[in-house]
Amino acid sequence: MLNELIKLKNQAFKEIKKSGALKELKKLETKYLGRKGEMTNILRQVKDLAVKERPKVGQLANQIKEELQQVIKNIEFELQQKESGVKESATVDVTLPGDRPCLGHLHPNTIIQQQLEDVFARMGFLVLEGPEVESEYYNFEALNIPATHPARDIQDTFYLTKPGLVMRTQTSNQQVRAIEKYGAPLRAIFPGRCFRNEATDVSHETTFYQLEGLMIGKDISIANLVAVMKTLLKEVFKREVKVRLRPGYFPFVEPGFELDINCLICEGKGCGVCKQTGWVELLPCGLVHPKVLESGGLDPKEWSGFAFGLGLTRLVMMKYGIDDIRLLQSGDLRFLNQF
Ligand code: DAH
Repeated sequence: MLNELIKLKNQAFKEIKKSGALKELKKLETKYLGRKGEMTNILRQVKDLAVKERPKVGQLANQIKEELQQVIKNIEFELQQKESGVKESATVDVTLPGDRPCLGHLHPNTIIQQQLEDVFARMGFLVLEGPEVESEYYNFEALNIPATHPARDIQDTFYLTKPGLVMRTQTSNQQVRAIEKYGAPLRAIFPGRCFRNEATDVSHETTFYQLEGLMIGKDISIANLVAVMKTLLKEVFKREVKVRLRPGYFPFVEPGFELDINCLICEGKGCGVCKQTGWVELLPCGLVHPKVLESGGLDPKEWSGFAFGLGLTRLVMMKYGIDDIRLLQSGDLRFLNQF
C-alpha cells in the first residue's frame, strides 16, 4: 500500500508539473484529489487495512494529499499570471536608454518674423501688434477704401455677425491706429496674421502672415523707402537678391509700387510659386496717401511717410524653398520638424 502511494505521488507530481494551462490543471486536480479521485480512493481504503498498518498509511496519504494541494496552488498561480499576460519577471532594466522627450521649437513663420523684428529694431522701429478681429473702419475706410471701393473685392474676408467687424485682411489696419496712438514722427512695424476668403492652392491660403511697416517724418521720400527695403532684403537672404520696382496701385499709398524679387525657388526660371514668371511679388509699398495721414490726425503738408506690406508667409517660402503655402498651416510634424 505504501509503495502504491509513493508511485501515485510521483506520477501525480510529474503530470501536474507538466500541465501548461489552467484547464488542464483543473482536470488533474479532479483526477487525483476530486471526490472520485485516486488519492481519495486510497484514503477511503485505509479503514479496511490491518489496524497496525492504518496509521502509517493514513499519515502518508494525508501528507501526500497536502503536498499535491500545495503544488497545484503554486502552478495555478503561475498559469494565471501567464494567461493574463503578466510577464514572468517584471524587473526594470535601469541601463536601457529612456524615451527621449520631444522638444518643441519655433515655427518657420516665427523664426523669420523675429529676425525681421531684430533688423527693424536696429533701425529704430517699434514692433507693434494689433487686433485680428478689426473694425471695417481701420481695415478699410481709414485707409482710403470706402465701402463701395473695388479694392474690397480683392480683399474679401470673413465678416463677423456683429456688423462692422471683419477678420483683418491686412496688417495695414495698424497704420492709422499707430498714428493715432503715437503721432509723428513714427517708425513702426506691425507683424501679424491676416485672413481672406480664398480658394486655396499652392500660393493662396485663407490665413497668412504679413509684416507691415510705416515710417512718418518730415521730408520722407522714395529714397528712404528704397534704402530701408534694400537693408531688409539683404539681412533676410544674407545675399544680394535681384529686385524690380513696378508701379502698383493701393488706395492708401501714392505713388504706389510693387517690389518683386527674383523667384528663389526656381532661380527665375518659372515655377508654380512664381506663376511661371520668375518673379514673386513680395513687397508692395509706397508713400503714405494724404488721406491716411488725415485719418490719423496729421497734416499732409507737414508730414510725409512711406509704408510697405511684406508678405511674411511668402518670404518664409522663398527663404526655405517651400513650394506649397498650405504646408505652413498644416500642423504636419513631418514638415515642421525640418526647421
Ligand atoms: N495691405 C496690402 C495688401 O495686403 C499690402 C500693402 C501695399 C501694404 C502697399 C502697404 C503698402 O503698406 O504701402 O495687399
